[in-house]
Amino acid sequence: MILAIESSCDDSSVALMKIDDYSLFFHKKISQEAVHSSYGGVVPELAARLHASALPKIVEKTVPYLKDVKAVAVTNEPGLSVALIEGVMMAKALSIGLGVPLLPINHLKGHIYSLFIGHEAKLPLGVLLVSGGHTQILDVKSYDDIKILASTLDDSFGESFDKVAKMLHLGYPGGGVIEKYAKKGCDRFNFTVPMQRSKEIAFSYSGLKNQVRLAIQNLKSDITQKDMEDISASFQTAAISHILKQCERVFKQNPFKEFAIVGGAAANQELRKQMVFLCKKFDMRVSFAPLEFCSDNAAMIARAGIEAYKLKRFVSVNEIKINPRCGF
Ligand code: KG4
Ligand code: ZN
Repeated sequence: MILAIESSCDDSSVALMKIDDYSLFFHKKISQEAVHSSYGGVVPELAARLHASALPKIVEKTVPYLKDVKAVAVTNEPGLSVALIEGVMMAKALSIGLGVPLLPINHLKGHIYSLFIGHEAKLPLGVLLVSGGHTQILDVKSYDDIKILASTLDDSFGESFDKVAKMLHLGYPGGGVIEKYAKKGCDRFNFTVPMQRSKEIAFSYSGLKNQVRLAIQNLKSDITQKDMEDISASFQTAAISHILKQCERVFKQNPFKEFAIVGGAAANQELRKQMVFLCKKFDMRVSFAPLEFCSDNAAMIARAGIEAYKLKRFVSVNEIKINPRCGF
């Protein structure tokens, strides 16, 4: 089996996955969301301290199976440096103790391989990665051949939900709660969809965030539950429209046979529904990361870890590096 560790942001997670059939043998995640919620976002130093106490607790539960571990996969890029360090330190200790090699795993590849938990990878594939840190359209040909076709110029899709939730005092993370509010609201504010006049194929959410801020300011302290639901609905409509418009531009230039949506924000039901329509229009098959593996988890790191294991991407404890701000 591969033992995998994920600690790039605010989830401490450990998984064991069987190398021969990609089946998930053990998986546990301790989320820090409730702790960070009162700050309206992730506090890195606090995240690191919570990883330091959570990871050993989870690893302890894997002790009976450690004799079967052939390598330790760990997220080493991208992410919060102080959070990544906790996972990498744990992985180094396990690698030394068990006498097995380390496999450094790119978190974004982990999200892509969340599509293949329990089975072989089916590539090539177009991928929309929507998370708290990234919004990208990717051309994924193999584990090593991933081309970025579009990415964000400022905030990410998930991050914009978090910021709107913060402005409405709805806690962190914002994705789930804004989606819930949006379901009850209507598109009364008619926010402008970003980058419609630009020819560039990219994403930008800072302008939309500002439109929301101004709408909230105009309502002053009289803001009602209905206003909050309508702001959420209007924001979500514009945010998803932006994704669809940019995807459409990419599909016109680069039609895929298969397309998939991954990352924490791939849990958004409205986005899923609209992507199904769009992909149908382009005669493309569409799939989604399983809901339980959309947000950060170690199962996806284990799955990417098996690819790395088969490609013999082993490194020693002295070689593994942390890259907080890298792409692929
Ligand atoms: O992949 P993930 O767990 O962490 C990163 O790698 O960033 O994604 C977390 C992000 C958060 O910004 C969260 O608000 C967003 O995914 N998210 C959603 C939804 N559920 C989670 N965004 C929109 N709609 C949702 N239902
Ligand atoms: Zn992630």
